[in-house]
Amino acid sequence: MSATLYQQIQQFYDASSGLWEQIWGEHMHHGYYGADGSQKKDRRQAQIDLIEEILNWAGVRTAENILDVGCGIGGSSLYLADKFNAKATGITLSPVQAARATERAQEAGLSARSQFQVANAQAMPFADNSFDLVWSLESGEHMPDKTLFMQECYRVLKPGGTLIMVTWCHRATDEAPLTADEQKHLQDIYRVYCLPYVISLPEYAGIARQLTLNNIRTADWSQAVAPFWNVVIDSAFTPQAIFGLLQAGWTTIQGALSLGLMRRGYQRGLIRFGLLCGNK
Ligand SMILES: C[S@@+](CC[C@H](N)C(=O)[O-])C[C@H]1O[C@@H](n2cnc3c(N)ncnc32)[C@H](O)[C@@H]1O
Repeated sequence: MSATLYQQIQQFYDASSGLWEQIWGEHMHHGYYGADGSQKKDRRQAQIDLIEEILNWAGVRTAENILDVGCGIGGSSLYLADKFNAKATGITLSPVQAARATERAQEAGLSARSQFQVANAQAMPFADNSFDLVWSLESGEHMPDKTLFMQECYRVLKPGGTLIMVTWCHRATDEAPLTADEQKHLQDIYRVYCLPYVISLPEYAGIARQLTLNNIRTADWSQAVAPFWNVVIDSAFTPQAIFGLLQAGWTTIQGALSLGLMRRGYQRGLIRFGLLCGNK
């Protein structure tokens, strides 16, 4: 599918990852603020708590060989490699992210057990049945073909292994189709964050069933993570962030100016934070 989309995603993360790391740190995903979103906590801790809560929810207590699909600068990959004393491989479309993740692995003394590369999640350069944990945290929303993306995750998963996929969704449409205004709101989000489109969590579950994934479970954690956007908005208007934004360029500035779109998306129940796990 469209080279242009992949180029846009690459450029978006090449340009913005340095600033994100400087302001926020290594995790490029939502934070967890308690099941009802009421807990107040340090923002980096909230992001680590999200990883821990996801593992706990999925019942994952060990892993030996992990694939982080859409790895950013290796935030989850290295966290998981360290926690489970495991091997971790991360893929991203951004050469800047892959290089920084590799550097971070060296800094953390994890280079012998981790590797990062530029590769497309829709056509992964890995053999079938390679990994016992396939982890995708907030990358599915970028994928132009959600079925192919999940097929690839399934293909590289070892029999008995666990797939964990956490992604931006829109609300379920079984009771009412998306209104024109909701569709316009989604289009604005897609444009700013380089997303082709998102789907609902029940649609992801339908794809997972077709893959014959076992023990499929889903959860909607929108309430738990929605406060993240208030914290991001506050952090974007500090002098350090504004200076960094001006240096990072227009796509990053546009992303920052549009942070309210996601906050409003959660407020009106349009944007949903979906989790799916299952075993091969
Ligand atoms: C929001 S970041 C999440 C990073 C990381 N999972 C984390 O939580 O810190 C989205 C990531 O998905 C990656 N991505 C998007 N489309 C991809 C594709 N087709 N193949 C591989 N990676 C992709 C981007 O390069 C980026 O690293």
